[in-house]
Amino acid sequence: MREKTLAIIKPDAVKKRVIGKIIQRIEDEGFEIIKMKLLHLTKEEAKAFYVVHKDKHFYDSLTEFMSSGEIVVMILERENAIAHWREVMGATDPALAKPGTIRREFGFSVERNAVHGSDSRATADWEIGFFTEKMGLD
Ligand code: CMP
Repeated sequence: MREKTLAIIKPDAVKKRVIGKIIQRIEDEGFEIIKMKLLHLTKEEAKAFYVVHKDKHFYDSLTEFMSSGEIVVMILERENAIAHWREVMGATDPALAKPGTIRREFGFSVERNAVHGSDSRATADWEIGFFTEKMGLD
């Protein structure tokens, strides 16, 4: 069944100038890019997006990083999009991600890991809503 997921190219990957390579991979994997926007989140916006992690030790550092530069936010559509995008991204920690995954190829650390993807249908709905309603991803 076709479904939507939210994908973000994070500030580390934008600074490395690999937006194009990551988008090519997204297209090669059969995703349709439904929406796409270059944004620079404020720290408050990054905190709101990652509120689920507010009690984690890395929350402040993660939100500082995510507001440190431009990001590319996309809504992707495909058969089994949520699980497939997670497979293409690879494990959160690039050192543990399989060869050929985006995080293995472009990630730097468990925090600066190049890309984000929704982890479930409920999260995808919430994250797409966040960027559609609050960030003008229309
Ligand atoms: P992401 O898929 O965007 O979801 C939450 C993010 O928190 C994750 O990718 C990483 O960027 C970051 N993260 C997860 N675990 C850690 C950790 N142990 N230390 C620092 N950052 C982390």
